[in-house]
Amino acid sequence: MPVMNSLRYVFADQPVDVTVEVNILEELGSLIRRSMPGGSPLRVVLISDTNVWPLYGERTKQALRQGGAEAACEWAIPAGETSKSWAAAGELFQFLADQHVGRDAVIVALGGGVVSDLAGFVAATWMRGVRLVICPTTLEADIDAAIGGKNAINIPGGKNLVGAFHQPFLIAIDPACLTTLPRRDLCSAMAESIKHALISSVDFLEWHEANVDPILALDGPVTMKLIEENIRIKADIVARDTTEQTGLRALLNLGHTIGHAIEECCGFTLRHGECVSLGLVAACRLSRRLGMLDSASVERVERLLIRFSLPTRLEDPIESDRILAAMRNDKKARGGSPQFVLLEGIGRPVVRGDITETAIREAYESVLA
Ligand SMILES: NC(=O)c1ccc[n+]([C@@H]2O[C@H](COP(=O)([O-])OP(=O)(O)OC[C@H]3O[C@@H](n4cnc5c(N)ncnc54)[C@H](O)[C@@H]3O)[C@@H](O)[C@H]2O)c1
Ligand SMILES: [Zn+2]
Repeated sequence: MPVMNSLRYVFADQPVDVTVEVNILEELGSLIRRSMPGGSPLRVVLISDTNVWPLYGERTKQALRQGGAEAACEWAIPAGETSKSWAAAGELFQFLADQHVGRDAVIVALGGGVVSDLAGFVAATWMRGVRLVICPTTLEADIDAAIGGKNAINIPGGKNLVGAFHQPFLIAIDPACLTTLPRRDLCSAMAESIKHALISSVDFLEWHEANVDPILALDGPVTMKLIEENIRIKADIVARDTTEQTGLRALLNLGHTIGHAIEECCGFTLRHGECVSLGLVAACRLSRRLGMLDSASVERVERLLIRFSLPTRLEDPIESDRILAAMRNDKKARGGSPQFVLLEGIGRPVVRGDITETAIREAYESVLA
């Protein structure tokens, strides 16, 4: 598998080193030392989950030790979305207190988007902020969750409602981790990749169409291109609107307004990407209904999602009233009216705040089985 050169992005004056390399986890200690502003780390707190720790935990710990960065303590949260909670954050804070973890610590998140969101939130707030490294182990985290410096936990009132912007200084992506990822999680992440294509370029959408089998087979060069291109698209947007002030970063929410509402209302029984897939279909159909997108493009998107085994219909319907209520709490809502990302064509997204409740209801109901 070819090695991607390390890239350095600057988000709001903060340099973020991103390295994508097979087996990079083995070199994590020396990588942290090289990237770390101001010398070697004193203490590393390794945060993972109960699925990832048995697979990669000890190896990572050893690599830290070999590189001269001692893993002072480790913590594995129960795997799954329910760990993005106050309770899990609270336990982690208490653990850091018990371990006397100070401001000199580096928190290393080893896992998927759940781990990087929770560990990122803890890193942003522990002692008003400690340094963060993200080692993503899912495709979702490689191409989306690890990039951009957003973190969050969920509260009963809504998903991702509590969080902060806190950039890691290093993101070390080891594509070899994807070999142990369940196929459902691999496919789920492809919804985000298709989202990136839809907001950026028809060429990237065509590339997906031409590479479904090699992507699912984790072909080396194709996997590198998949990760590299997604990072480039997301990082370019984040670099121009790091804290979501100008509306540009909001484009990354395509499919997420309805997607997050479904995710919440189904009690997290569907994967994040599966809900995004349904949200993308709803957003495309709404765009068509408003005369912005042609039917052929909508069908093209649905066909591609299906090829990655992603849902385009919600099998266990949720009442539209519940979905609309969840959307009103969405943090992207401004004064109660949800912001919608729609498409004027493939690669041509727009943010709209004037979509009527009736139109939203119809868009959601159009994805019911
Ligand atoms: N902060 C952001 O910008 C951002 C962006 C996108 C998504 N997210 C968040 O990310 C979360 C979804 O992330 P996810 O899809 O990575 O979910 P996840 O972290 O729950 O991982 C999915 C499953 O795969 C397991 N797993 C992880 N790595 C593995 C590996 N290498 N081998 C085997 N099993 C492995 C996990 O234990 C879990 O069971 C959601 O909460 C979403 O809101 C955040
Ligand atoms: Zn997402």
